[in-house]
Amino acid sequence: MGDPSYPCNRQLLSSFGATVKLVPTGPSSRFQLDLSGVQKNWSDRTRGMMIASPSNPTGTSVPAHELSVLCDWVRSLGAWRVVDEIYLNLGDPDQQGRAPQTVLSFDRDAVVINSFSKYFGMTGWRLGWCVVPPGMVSAIERLAQNYYICASTVAQRAALACFSVASLEACEARRIEFGRRRRLVLDGLAELGIPVPVPPDGAFYVYLDVSGTGLTSWQFCERALVEAHVALTPGKDFGNFGADTYVRLSYAASMATLQEAISRLGRARSALRAG
Ligand SMILES: Cc1ncc(COP(=O)(O)O)c(C=O)c1O
Repeated sequence: MGDPSYPCNRQLLSSFGATVKLVPTGPSSRFQLDLSGVQKNWSDRTRGMMIASPSNPTGTSVPAHELSVLCDWVRSLGAWRVVDEIYLNLGDPDQQGRAPQTVLSFDRDAVVINSFSKYFGMTGWRLGWCVVPPGMVSAIERLAQNYYICASTVAQRAALACFSVASLEACEARRIEFGRRRRLVLDGLAELGIPVPVPPDGAFYVYLDVSGTGLTSWQFCERALVEAHVALTPGKDFGNFGADTYVRLSYAASMATLQEAISRLGRARSALRAG
């Protein structure tokens, strides 16, 4: 798995007895795994690769053609490709205007994880799904039966309502709104002189580099919270590599709230620097 990445995914793998190897990623690979990183870190004990695209905490994706090459290589070794597509529908269309593609369009035996939490805005309703190769279905059914039996009826009914024309229109409108919020945040951070090494192309996160302030990301977040009452997440929550350098900002908030947050960070500028 890449570092940084969504922390629960690695804990889930550990809880099933896997030893998780985190592969450092940076701006040159959009903070995502790439073929050379995977190949360099592969050993004869490696059983699979897990990717979330777009990613939490960076909002960056692995382009479909690169993911396809990566999956081909991993598949050629008979290993698992597990792709967390929870933010897929909150990804930008490509240059031809096509919606982001699921990994299943080029790797039919990949394992896909998804959820109603993000695109459908059902965070907290605890409802998601997996797409698995046929040979895995009965094992997954047994796990599901023993781990949680079934999703609540209320959540299932709400999820069915997500597929109405009106709901899908609302979700699309929100995706477009996220684009406007992203622009506001990126422009605001640029004015404050806080770099975003890779602008996101999905999800609702921006990963900023606070090293120029002379503070660690932890100190930056603490001061932003205490001095400006702005809640940000330090890189440490998502791994080790660059953890002191980067901070995640979530723009899952209204335009007014985001504007206020940027203004407050600006007013607290001197507190957000070392010395
Ligand atoms: C990459 C990623 N995967 C999975 C999840 C889990 O979401 P949920 O448990 O709400 O379905 C999250 C939540 O933040 C996430 O960012």
